[in-house]
Amino acid sequence: MSPVVSEIEAVFAAKGGETYGEQVTQLEHALQCAALAAADGAAPSLVAAALLHDVGHLIEEPDDAFGQHRHDRGGAAWLSSRFGPEVTEPVRLHVAAKRWLCAVEPGYFDRLSPASVHSLKHQGGPMSAPEARAFEAEPFHDQAVRLRRWDEEGKREGLHVRPLGDYRELLEGLVLR
Ligand SMILES: [Fe+2]
Repeated sequence: MSPVVSEIEAVFAAKGGETYGEQVTQLEHALQCAALAAADGAAPSLVAAALLHDVGHLIEEPDDAFGQHRHDRGGAAWLSSRFGPEVTEPVRLHVAAKRWLCAVEPGYFDRLSPASVHSLKHQGGPMSAPEARAFEAEPFHDQAVRLRRWDEEGKREGLHVRPLGDYRELLEGLVLR
């Protein structure tokens, strides 16, 4: 197994049981998002992005008071020495995608979980029109928006999904050599 894949499994083993204000643990959330991506016919790189999109929550120092509000960039930075932009860019943009969806899609805000509404405030709220245009110019914005929709959905208590070990081969195929 690639050291990167073992490292990811170790990160989830260490901190994947934390709950961060949602109904599910980080590991359950990651697995649900990856399962939703796979069921939606996403490319392997986007399934991996869905699985790893909140890794920024798992790698931060516990005393990082601002961590949960910039876990998108922290996670993407950590991933960028391990995977290419097709994995890291949707991760980097998944908070921006929430702010964009809240700005452009009527009713989207009402679908957010309470924890997600809370973090939205600290993330800048719904995008302004110029911010939305800048987001739409990002090469991976479509993938980020797809990831964001799974992110909203992947918070169901007691849902049975494939275990982390099932993604080894998929991740191996994407690790930078
Ligand atoms: Fe998430």
